[in-house]
Amino acid sequence: MEDISNRLIVALDVPTLYEAVRIVDKLAGTVKWFKIGSQLYTAAGPEAVKLVTGYGLKVFLDLKFHDIPATVSLAGRAATQLGVNMFNVHSSGGEAMMRATVKGARATAANNKSPCPVIIAVTILTSMDQSDLRQAGCIDPVDRAVMNLAKMAQECGLDGVVSSAEEIGDIKKNLGRDFLVVTPGVRPGWAAADDQKRVKTPAEAIRDGADYLVIGRPVLKAEDPTDAARRILDEMDSAL
Ligand code: C5P
Repeated sequence: MEDISNRLIVALDVPTLYEAVRIVDKLAGTVKWFKIGSQLYTAAGPEAVKLVTGYGLKVFLDLKFHDIPATVSLAGRAATQLGVNMFNVHSSGGEAMMRATVKGARATAANNKSPCPVIIAVTILTSMDQSDLRQAGCIDPVDRAVMNLAKMAQECGLDGVVSSAEEIGDIKKNLGRDFLVVTPGVRPGWAAADDQKRVKTPAEAIRDGADYLVIGRPVLKAEDPTDAARRILDEMDSAL
């Protein structure tokens, strides 16, 4: 039977290592994955990753690398060396950059005799709309641009994409069931939407085919974060 806790990633969106310790320690018996993004990583660096891996838990390093191929490849190698289980790059960085990143991460993992991290592409940021794209010189409709970038990421050997629940169906139809979808913007019925505009519930996102759900504030800001995470996991489980 599937252990649904392997599919929930709690966004560790806190400003200090001190607060990260408080949350990770509380949730360690319930949650298997934490996402470390630019805020915590900029404040605390590799110590934040070591905190999570030290509990035997998994890290999605959400730094959305975007630079020339050599630089992103070296960043991917460094992330692999650090022992993260998933990291992401902007697919708009191009084919050469993505291929170099996959090659670098695989070589580092093989050298360490450790599994290669899951490498995920960011396509078009969900904060960007058609006019933002046009300003950046892209004339494609957003959904076509998302699909083209996702396809390119797959061809370069990446394992999946970050995507809102609404696009999961199209991604799975076009790129196959094994191409992973990591989905933020998820809210249980009992939680506030915060600044997320088009939310789906954990059950809906699982039914839509999300492989991993990324959820932050409904857990972090709950009076009892462990209870909140358990309720989310129960809801995900009921949707299987
Ligand atoms: O607190 P909340 O559940 O909204 O957190 C969602 C997390 O997923 C945040 O870390 C946010 O940066 C990230 N994210 C997102 N939407 C995207 C990509 C990432 O909310 N399109």
